[in-house]
Amino acid sequence: MRVPAQPAARRTVHPPEADLADPLFWQLPRGARLDAFAALRKLESPAYFTERPATRRRPEQGFYALVGHADVVRASRLPQVFASAPGVTTPEPARWVRFLFGESMVNMDAPHHTQLRRVVSRAFTPRLLAEADEDIRRVAGRVVDDMIAQRPGDFVASVASRMPFEVICNLMGIPEHYRAEIAGRVDHASENAGVKRGIGARLRDPGRGLRALARMHLMMAALGRERRRRPTGDLISALVRADVDGQGLGARSLGSFFSLLMVAGVETTRNAITHALTLLTENPDQRALLASDFDRYADGAVDEVVRHSTPIIQFRRTVRTEYALGGHLFRPGDKVVLYYASANRDERVFSDPDAFDITRSPNPHLGYGGGGPHFCLGSHLARQEIKALFRELLGRPLALRAVGLPDLAGSNFDNRVRALRFAFDPPAP
Ligand code: HEM
Repeated sequence: MRVPAQPAARRTVHPPEADLADPLFWQLPRGARLDAFAALRKLESPAYFTERPATRRRPEQGFYALVGHADVVRASRLPQVFASAPGVTTPEPARWVRFLFGESMVNMDAPHHTQLRRVVSRAFTPRLLAEADEDIRRVAGRVVDDMIAQRPGDFVASVASRMPFEVICNLMGIPEHYRAEIAGRVDHASENAGVKRGIGARLRDPGRGLRALARMHLMMAALGRERRRRPTGDLISALVRADVDGQGLGARSLGSFFSLLMVAGVETTRNAITHALTLLTENPDQRALLASDFDRYADGAVDEVVRHSTPIIQFRRTVRTEYALGGHLFRPGDKVVLYYASANRDERVFSDPDAFDITRSPNPHLGYGGGGPHFCLGSHLARQEIKALFRELLGRPLALRAVGLPDLAGSNFDNRVRALRFAFDPPAP
């Protein structure tokens, strides 16, 4: 009997043009980044990247990149091996930040994650989402009315960021007078996530993101206290109420859940909506197909937008127990990054992966994660929002189009668009 070869624990070196740990890599043109990922997918085992070389006081820091669809799915569904604690972001949240603001559920493992997820899932039941649909359509109508009244400008500011922000604030029951401040704070908290900043910018504005986060937590704590005293029908009331198991969210958990929703729910959807306008402008045949029978093609179009643009590029995991995956033997303590953006272009799963095809079927993209306990809690809500907005945009007698390319932030974490100009073509006679 042949004994299968043991995978090596040896590190595979990445091609020089594909240094994912170099912040400058993320500022390269999109084509160059896609080519680099295609080269990484051809390697026999996951490549290793050095983030910080060893010093006398500190060991080297680095990570392995999972870039193939099958590997990302496998790691996502094995939380006992590929753990989310102490953090899935790069860099991991500092200990004092976690202490001050509470743990975010993305950074937790069972059993705490399971308990918290059970509580916050109250916010996303099919019944609540069906009830929210009417509100989502109303918000979409209002946002598009305002966009037309304001005339061409920046699609991100006028449309893409307003839609998910208003929907989540309505769902949560955030009073109007808090909203402008929260919107500004979210922007500060997330504008530089995963983006290389010069020392000048960091010194000019030290801790702006953290101050924004702290202020948001204080607001949520105040709202939580208010709803505990006087519950209304909104989600904050549902989340702070102790249910049959006696579990409700305390002030810190409510604050960190709200901050997570603002980034995970608003920023992602805003970026997906913005990329959708670019993709539909660049692919007039796909746009015409979608407009020809919206109800038939909309679900496929939204999935294809999420696959093609992959709003969240990556999340990381920490290896808990020795495990062989993708031809490599991982050891406890190894850091592994799951590149959804690469898995979504894996030519072994998607034919012609760079093409934007709203009829792609099946479309097993990993834009909302690779399955497992952390799979995106808001994927249905995101679909509802994107569909409602494009139903309005394509249903009006105006030929909206993106002008030029999106201004990308160059983040290694999310496919964030800072701005995208838009214009209307003369309407068809
Ligand atoms: C196009 C829009 C969206 C994309 C691309 C997206 C993507 C993702 C991804 C990749 C994850 C991590 C999955 C994993 O680790 O396995 C995630 C988690 C999460 N998402 Fe989304 N998301 C979107 C919209 C939303 C919305 C609208 C909400 C809520 C309002 C939301 C709430 C969450 C939450 C709470 C988590 C953490 C779940 C957990 O740790 O258990 N997301 N999302």
